[in-house]
Amino acid sequence: MSRIPLIAGNWKMYKTGPEAVETGAHLASLSSDVSDVEIMIAPTHLSLALVSHALKGTRVKTGAQNLFHEDEGAFTGEVSAKMIKSAGAEYAIIGHSERRQYFQETDQSVCKKVQAAVAGGLKPILCIGETETQRDQGKTFFILDKQVSDGLKASGPGDLEDLVLAYEPVWAIGTGRTASVEQVEEVHRHLRSKISTLFSNELADRTRILYGGSVKPDNVSDLMSIEDVDGALVGGASLDADQFIKIINFNK
Ligand code: 13P
Repeated sequence: MSRIPLIAGNWKMYKTGPEAVETGAHLASLSSDVSDVEIMIAPTHLSLALVSHALKGTRVKTGAQNLFHEDEGAFTGEVSAKMIKSAGAEYAIIGHSERRQYFQETDQSVCKKVQAAVAGGLKPILCIGETETQRDQGKTFFILDKQVSDGLKASGPGDLEDLVLAYEPVWAIGTGRTASVEQVEEVHRHLRSKISTLFSNELADRTRILYGGSVKPDNVSDLMSIEDVDGALVGGASLDADQFIKIINFNK
């Protein structure tokens, strides 16, 4: 099965509404002739509706960086899948390592969020990744397996047709240290076989597995040439449309 590459930008806590709209619109004009790559940006919740509205009809889709698993209620400060969908987003990033590290997210809360995203009509991008200590201790595969199986515990294969996995080694995020081609190859192959064991060959075949962690214009082609790498989740280098378009055009 051929999987359409997804190049996604996680804008984290950067850019005001007007700045986000400006960068998004610039990216849309730069990407108007891109045809074989899906493009997504995830601005802050506050900018999501503005950016989605400004990008309607362009090649650039939008996503949220997080959501809360309940539909609505007295949950001060939280945002539901339904609200994100109605803001015009198609994707939701779930379980990013910064959320696990700074906001106490666990595989259990991630699991509820994946379910809520799917129920709300959003495509979940489930982020997983080991810390440097875990890698040094030889626990990488144990940690990744747990994040995948616990994070997807409540979902059946029918819920996960639009699932995207993002392998983001924590030690490679924002550090300028990219995982080596061999490391990424080994992990991505392992993750696809994990999805096959947990669910089915068909689902494993259609699931896009992105790599994230210091992806830049000068390393994206090497990463994208790896068989089981179906795209990239980009932080810092997605904030500037002129840089990000070089990553999107990895095959040119
Ligand atoms: P950087 O590309 O800045 O390393 O961030 C990666 C990331 O966390 C994307 O979600």
